[in-house]
Amino acid sequence: MKNNRLKIAIQKKGRLSEASLAFLNSLGLKFIPNGHSLIQQCENMDLDLVLLRDDDIPEYVSRGVADFAIIGQNILLEKQMRVDVIRELDFAKCRLDIAVPENSTIKTPKDLEGERIATTYPQLLKEYLAKNNINSAIIPIKGSVEITPELNLADAICDVVQTGNTLKAHNLKPLVTILESKALLITNNIQKVGKEELKELLLK
Ligand code: PRP
Repeated sequence: MKNNRLKIAIQKKGRLSEASLAFLNSLGLKFIPNGHSLIQQCENMDLDLVLLRDDDIPEYVSRGVADFAIIGQNILLEKQMRVDVIRELDFAKCRLDIAVPENSTIKTPKDLEGERIATTYPQLLKEYLAKNNINSAIIPIKGSVEITPELNLADAICDVVQTGNTLKAHNLKPLVTILESKALLITNNIQKVGKEELKELLLK
């Protein structure tokens, strides 16, 4: 099924969702909730809001299925997809940190040599380790990363930190920050996207 209405994708639920919708509302775009539907029509423009898992968003945008999206820099860099960044937004600020247990013998990044690091960001971790000439075993998982050291799946983690509360709750402390991240407004190809009035609104 395909229609020609422009589509803007945002995270359905999580760190980015509320602020993304508030940002679009602040531009004057109003969307009509449609029960549990994951697509909402815009009241005042020929545009649909598509609610997605944040890690699926780069795929939708790079394939041109979504014309615009709001995504965290961390997810975009991890997925390594080619999209155009229209502008940086001032929310969803967080870091991607490697963290270790409070009582760990790992005191510096070099001490990660030969250790196991659990992460939902295997690509970014791989790049960091290669750049710093550290050989560690990357354990890719999908979530609840902070629990892996206490269950002895890993010796360290590489995960998103915002307030630091989740690290503290699991007696973990940051070792090194490998990325600072914030929300980005992205598109597949700014040249190709029509609807001048929307383009103007998003670019201004
Ligand atoms: C991240 C991360 C932590 C939490 C950290 O999850 O996995 O669980 O945020 O935030 P804090 O420092 O404020 O405690 P995220 O919300 O990105 O969802 P995810 O499960 O999709 O990774």
